[in-house]
Amino acid sequence: MRAAEIQDDLSEILVTEEQIREKLDELAARVAADYAGKDLLLVGVLKGAFVVMADFARALPMHAPIDFMAVSSYGASTKSSGVVQIRKDLDTDLHGKHVLIVEDIIDSGLTLSWLLENFESRGAESIEVLALLRKPEAAKVHIDCKYVGFDIPTEFVVGYGLDYAERYRNLRDVAVLAPHVYS
Ligand code: XMP
Ligand code: MG
Repeated sequence: MRAAEIQDDLSEILVTEEQIREKLDELAARVAADYAGKDLLLVGVLKGAFVVMADFARALPMHAPIDFMAVSSYGASTKSSGVVQIRKDLDTDLHGKHVLIVEDIIDSGLTLSWLLENFESRGAESIEVLALLRKPEAAKVHIDCKYVGFDIPTEFVVGYGLDYAERYRNLRDVAVLAPHVYS
């Protein structure tokens, strides 16, 4: 597929690469101050968070091991089922760790609320959430997200790690997927 055809699948650029870079620098400075002297573990939620993890971890001016967990609640649909499956578990024992979950997006919040409960039962010392994007009007459960990049409208977005049917993850910006692609 050519670049122009990919552009036709997007109705609007919501957040640019440049805006994301600035925001992640700002969040990284806050996180470094908040976790100074602490044993911080970054946990990325695959697959969507692989891009934000790469950029956030490099913006962070402190030591922080990185682990990933792969969960799935969507399949090829655009709506959360609320049913979370672990596809790949953590390699790290969470006991005594200060965990920062790095997420691409909070939509209904169902995935994260499940993850938070799961991590609490593993004995983490503290658990906080960093999400690049959040759809406040789509929330079905409240998530205490300490570090939020951008609040966005309730529309299906792609790019910067986010996919529709495994496409568009490699786009540099976050864009609204044009309805003709999935309807
Ligand atoms: P929930 O609804 O459980 O969703 O908060 C969390 C996960 O669903 C995916 N998700 C999206 N993926 N565009 C995407 O490409 C979106 O607009 C979108 N909304 C939710 C995502 O994997 C997230 O971690
Ligand atoms: Mg996805």
